[in-house]
Amino acid sequence: MSDLTVAGSVPADRLTTSPKRLQWSSRMAFILAAAGSAVGLGNIWKFPYITGENGGGAFVLVYLACILLIGIPVMMAEIMIGRRAQKNPTDAMAALALEAKASKLWQGVGWMGVITGFLILSFYTVIAGWAVSYIFTSGSGAFTDITPDQAGAMFGAMLADPVRLLSWSTLVVILTMYIVGRGVSAGLEKAVSYLMPGLLILILIMVGYAMSTGHFMEGLEFLFAPDFSKLSTESVLVALGHAFFTLSLASGAIMTYGSYLPKNTSIVKTSIAVAIVDTVVALLAGMAIFPIVFAYGLEPGAGPGLIFVTLPIAFGQMPFGIVFGTLFFVMLSIAALTSAISLIEPAVAWLTEKCQFSRLKACVTSGLVLWILGVGTVLSFNIWEQHKIFGKNFFELIDFLTANLMMPLGGLLVAIFSAWIINSKVAEQELGLGKGICFKLWQLTMRYLTPIGIVVVFLNALGVISL
Ligand code: TRP
Repeated sequence: MSDLTVAGSVPADRLTTSPKRLQWSSRMAFILAAAGSAVGLGNIWKFPYITGENGGGAFVLVYLACILLIGIPVMMAEIMIGRRAQKNPTDAMAALALEAKASKLWQGVGWMGVITGFLILSFYTVIAGWAVSYIFTSGSGAFTDITPDQAGAMFGAMLADPVRLLSWSTLVVILTMYIVGRGVSAGLEKAVSYLMPGLLILILIMVGYAMSTGHFMEGLEFLFAPDFSKLSTESVLVALGHAFFTLSLASGAIMTYGSYLPKNTSIVKTSIAVAIVDTVVALLAGMAIFPIVFAYGLEPGAGPGLIFVTLPIAFGQMPFGIVFGTLFFVMLSIAALTSAISLIEPAVAWLTEKCQFSRLKACVTSGLVLWILGVGTVLSFNIWEQHKIFGKNFFELIDFLTANLMMPLGGLLVAIFSAWIINSKVAEQELGLGKGICFKLWQLTMRYLTPIGIVVVFLNALGVISL
């Protein structure tokens, strides 16, 4: 990454560090990269559709609680681990376990993270491909005065065509690998500093349109009025999994980014800033989409196609819809790309640091494996749609495995590791919270609340206990 400047000197109290380890040029560069990683398809595509599938308000409330009580503290822990060790996730866990005289097995957490990120990216590139494809659909004026049925048919036609889906996702894989391989993320990070506010403004314009539909209050009520009778035990697990997904946790991404963070930066403030930006974008996306859903008699639980069916209707009605629509999908694609590069970075860091691969070779290798896995997701929207294992097709299975099992488990282990295994003094010093109540609060959360919370949600979803 050329946005990272080579660290001039290595602090003496560090663990063994390579003298050439890269560093972010400033705190802002890190925040931008971390926010770029966090804000993505998870906020604009996934959050609205899972909210729709899980009944709205009560789900949103549980999700917000998970961000606050589990997501933010775990994010602090991951940045702390990465920065302390100055290594890729597997070596970072191994080094800190060694420092704490704990078992080397802890590096398994790093491994699981790298694999989780990789699996997520295999479907993420396919969905990002939908967004890229819609740039051109919108640009051609195809949304003008489109009816809900036509919007559904247009999206359905895209899903039914594996060659089209694969072509777009291939383009996304190539772009991601090019950016990561050539280390040109500096340009991208700079672009993001304009594009993120741009995306936010466009979402606000969509919220403005949603207000004009006459169904705004209905949308708000769906999002914010909790009706706990609609909340299933699995919904709680989905909300927990999504908190990890949307903040890019338990996958090595934030840990790797943290390893490039200069020592004098506040981990706490940075984590909170990233979480706030991420949550605001997701809630605004929901506020833009649900009023449109109700205004046009669509189904909130329509699944992964929700934004691709609702937003075109809005763009087709509003003034300058072609311009706004095209811009929107351009920005969504870029938001997806900045997340994609963070999903692959841990695997690339691992291949280069561990297997002595050149950056280029690491990218080509991981790109190929990703692409092959991506074919599975492409086919699960058409030819393999009915091929189910445990009642789920390939895409649903990978999504469930990563978001609902691997990430909560990874988060649980990171919490235990950072609050029970790492020496309190080390954690205190890295987090920079001083000896005060704030550190104690973080430690108590990570020692008890987070692990117990995750275990209870798991057991509840499995039906072992019932709340
Ligand atoms: N957080 C991103 C989003 O919401 C996706 C993402 C990027 C991610 N890196 C990750 C998800 C690591 C899980 C793990 O779109």
